[in-house]
Amino acid sequence: MGNPGSEPPSSEITSEPLYLRRREFIRNAALFAATAVGVGGGLRWLTRGRRATDRTRAGASELATLAITRRVEYADGEAATPERDVTGYNNFYELGTDKEDPAANAHTMRSRPWTVEIAGEVRKPLVLDVDQLLRWFPLEQRVYRMRCVEAWSMVIPWVGFPLAALLARIEPTSRAKYVQFTTLLDPEQFPGQRRRVLDWPYVEGLRIDEAMHPLALIAVGLYGKALPGQNGAPLRLVVPWKYGFKGIKSIVAIRLVENQPRTTWSAAASDEYGFFANVNPAVDHPRWTQASERRIGELHRRATLPFNGYAEQVASLYTSMDLRANF
Ligand code: MTE
Repeated sequence: MGNPGSEPPSSEITSEPLYLRRREFIRNAALFAATAVGVGGGLRWLTRGRRATDRTRAGASELATLAITRRVEYADGEAATPERDVTGYNNFYELGTDKEDPAANAHTMRSRPWTVEIAGEVRKPLVLDVDQLLRWFPLEQRVYRMRCVEAWSMVIPWVGFPLAALLARIEPTSRAKYVQFTTLLDPEQFPGQRRRVLDWPYVEGLRIDEAMHPLALIAVGLYGKALPGQNGAPLRLVVPWKYGFKGIKSIVAIRLVENQPRTTWSAAASDEYGFFANVNPAVDHPRWTQASERRIGELHRRATLPFNGYAEQVASLYTSMDLRANF
């Protein structure tokens, strides 16, 4: 970022419940217990850096939370980007500004214990442990395209749950017009925060209707495993129709607010990075074209799709908006 195709099956999306019932979760959890480890053959727990005894202790609860109960493909059959690229070519300025830095420096992060605060304009504010949060929702694998504002893209099999399910739990009040997300501030874990590359902590936001959209995901894993640090462990946002910088990593606070929050990248360069940041091939970045992109692993550039190919699902959120002014 420098200084500061076609449509997925709409039936899958429109049939998505706004929240998933506890009963269903219990049934799924029982199913998982019965099949023990390895649902779908793809489930493994990241044990890097743990001693065997820790691994055993951590295993039981954390494995259970990564049971994938449903797999949906929202990338029109496009091949997923190899895992080594998804986890080796990253933007996570808290861990360094080069693409290889986050993977190299992620060992400084501690994603457990991890507490998330959900507050503001809600009837049921919460401060809770991430593992407890994970137990509330059945986990889905969702394959989404991701388009970075820097004009490269990937296809990523995330594991997570709809943000809408979480919001339903905490009951926003009628004054909740936006949702603000904040990354952990801890220069000991995040060496990048020792330099003022950005105004730390990293903050992002969505309008409430965007946050409630069934495609907006809280991701806790990828490729069937818990999120590696460099991808935003233990939980991050994924909004597939927006530029990747909206997908804030390593979230510690979610705040429902009345006014549009000040977000990190739009504060750093408001003419380059807007609040909405919807993928739009018709509106160029001041320093490069947004009409095409480089899919990691491909030789030739490909055309960028409006809303990153999710227009059928999300364009109705913006019918009354000038997308050039509100970029
Ligand atoms: N979140 C935080 N906290 N810090 C960051 O620097 N970079 C963003 C976003 N989330 C960033 C962040 C950008 S620019 C992109 S493109 C995506 O994360 C990259 O996600 P990935 O590394 O998992 O592909």
